[in-house]
Amino acid sequence: MAAVFLAGGAGYIGSHTAVELLNAGFEVIAADNFSNSSPESIRRVEQITGKSAVLYEADIRDRKAMTEIFRKHKIDAVIHFAGMKAVGESVQKPVEYYRNNLDTTLTLLEVMREEGCSKIIFSSSATVYGAENPVPYTETMPRGICSNPYGWTKAMTEQILEDAAKADPSLSVILLRYFNPIGAHSSGMIGEDPQGIPNNLMPYITQVAVGKREQLTIFGNDYPTPDGTCLRDYIHVVDLAKGHVCAANYILGMQGVEIFNLGTGRPYSVTEIVDAFERVNGIKVPHVYGDRRAGDLAEFYANAEKAREILHWETTLTLEDMCRDSWNWQKQNPNGYR
Ligand code: NAD
Ligand code: WQD
Repeated sequence: MAAVFLAGGAGYIGSHTAVELLNAGFEVIAADNFSNSSPESIRRVEQITGKSAVLYEADIRDRKAMTEIFRKHKIDAVIHFAGMKAVGESVQKPVEYYRNNLDTTLTLLEVMREEGCSKIIFSSSATVYGAENPVPYTETMPRGICSNPYGWTKAMTEQILEDAAKADPSLSVILLRYFNPIGAHSSGMIGEDPQGIPNNLMPYITQVAVGKREQLTIFGNDYPTPDGTCLRDYIHVVDLAKGHVCAANYILGMQGVEIFNLGTGRPYSVTEIVDAFERVNGIKVPHVYGDRRAGDLAEFYANAEKAREILHWETTLTLEDMCRDSWNWQKQNPNGYR
């Protein structure tokens, strides 16, 4: 049984990935400083799967703590989720974002080298394609100009990992570029638990639906798209999590660096998301149209062929599943894990 270390494993994508890894027979060791999560998520992962995971409260930048974990467990591969991820906040706090998101990676690389672990999968983002590349995005396109410090931390981390693999041919790296993850585990026991006012569309919609916020503002309806609102490639977080299981299996036998888009390849507009949410759940989401949000692109979506061909991974869950499961999580947990 291969053991996978989830750095930042208590978060939204990490906890869903933990479920799928445990279900696939992997051993799961996670560490998190709970800066944007709660240990309760991993407790619930254990309830869902009926299997145990090991969870450490630790900062991934803490070299001593990481060394202890790597000495205690024989770790075959690392999945690096640990990072701050709020785009707007990163503009206000660039130094904190660069410090956290780059140092986590550097500490992991140092400890992995010292302790003999040579496989790392990184949570990157479609944002590294920047504004210059045409859609759909394919992995062979060059990284673009990012519109905010958060995006630059992803582009820089990709570069760091590529350089480290070039210098050390025994190191294998997979860069997973996520598109727009939404949804939750079908049990409604784990899901996305943003602190404060949500930045992202789906948690904002569910908080309006549950009565925590008055109305949704749709940022712009004058884009050059069919209904004037932005197009994105929304992907169910459980499909995304299964992509990590495929990547974990693949990295155990690969050398070098591979990049994979994890998206569906099918874009939806903001209005289509709101309409689908209302239809599937039979609940109204009061909304108004407002100004465009700075930095938003009119559209982006994945070419998802490479992951299908090489990882044998395909998304199976629909927009209706995403809307139903997001709402199921929110209504069962109106205050998240608190
Ligand atoms: P999340 O905030 O729920 O999970 C990140 C986890 O990392 C949190 O549990 C947080 O407490 C932890 N963390 C942060 N810094 C840490 C540190 N120094 N030490 C230990 N733990 C630390 O976010 P998520 O949505 O699950 O995202 C996971 C990863 O995927 C992030 O790197 C994010 O940037 C990336 N990503 C997310 C999205 C998205 O839309 N959710 C899209 C593309 C990429
Ligand atoms: C989706 C659409 C908004 C909120 C971000 C990051 C990206 C990646 C995924 C990490 C856009 C519109 C939103 C609202 C709205 N994350 N919207 N009203 O901006 O596509 O991507 O998350 O890597 O890097 O930038 O996601 O969910 O914020 O927005 O109208 O209150 O919903 O304008 O068109 P985005 P999002």
